[in-house]
Amino acid sequence: MGTDRVMKVCIVGASGKLGQYMVRHALDRGYEVVGVCRERSVPKLAAFEGRMTVVPGATNDPEVIRRAVAGCDGVLTVLVPWGVQQYASGTAQAVLDHARPGARLVFSCGWHITRDGKDRYSWLFTTALRIVAVLGKLVRAVEIDDQVEACRRVFASDTRWTVVRGSDLEEGESQGLPVWSRHVGDPVLAGNLTRRVDFALFMVEALTDDALVHEAPAIVGRLTPAALAHTAAPDGPG
Ligand SMILES: NC(=O)c1ccc[n+]([C@@H]2O[C@H](COP(=O)([O-])OP(=O)(O)OC[C@H]3O[C@@H](n4cnc5c(N)ncnc54)[C@H](OP(=O)(O)O)[C@@H]3O)[C@@H](O)[C@H]2O)c1
Repeated sequence: MGTDRVMKVCIVGASGKLGQYMVRHALDRGYEVVGVCRERSVPKLAAFEGRMTVVPGATNDPEVIRRAVAGCDGVLTVLVPWGVQQYASGTAQAVLDHARPGARLVFSCGWHITRDGKDRYSWLFTTALRIVAVLGKLVRAVEIDDQVEACRRVFASDTRWTVVRGSDLEEGESQGLPVWSRHVGDPVLAGNLTRRVDFALFMVEALTDDALVHEAPAIVGRLTPAALAHTAAPDGPG
């Protein structure tokens, strides 16, 4: 894209907590912003009225996504596994199918997603995930394996993707750009806590960071003790 044109980004899942932070960061950068959210959630974006375009609808509706991503240089997608309806994979597929070729695509998920199987999880993490996956599906509230499928499709695509894997999250003032590493279990990530506002910051920064194309960074707050202890490599692996 030329430097004389304002960057246009679509935020899929704009009305959620992460989504609203991303809207704010994108507007702060002077980007033109289009947001997608469920019709009933449009009022959650009232604070941004007049500063962004809202396309109401289900994020896994290909027609909604086609309209929303038209002409966008980047698409930030919140992947959520709600319900038993292939919501996350449907959302990812719609974005992969309809974003313009060459657009930067940045997806959010959690540490439980693994790209190459080299992540090392604690027994506690694995057990908790299994319980959520089984119980969530049983009561038809959450479909963790569909978020896994969504990311599998992203990893296999020939788009310019990044999958940002969030640690546990907390609210609070920004502490700056999180640090990242390629594998859960790497010492720098031991703190397992990121401010949600900074998760959003990392997502928006990834739009213009070509070093993150085809990476699945696992992120953590830059002020967590382990991140501070590894300040020799504060901005990523190596
Ligand atoms: N929560 C965590 O501790 C955590 C940890 C690591 C990574 N992550 C990742 O961070 C991202 C954001 O997670 P978050 O917890 O912070 O959530 P969030 O930003 O509040 O986003 C939740 C999203 O899910 C939508 N949603 C809620 N219920 C829904 C339903 N029944 N059907 C369809 N959509 C529904 C919301 O839309 P409406 O506004 O329309 O309700 C919103 O877009 C996700 O990719 C998640 O995997 C979260």
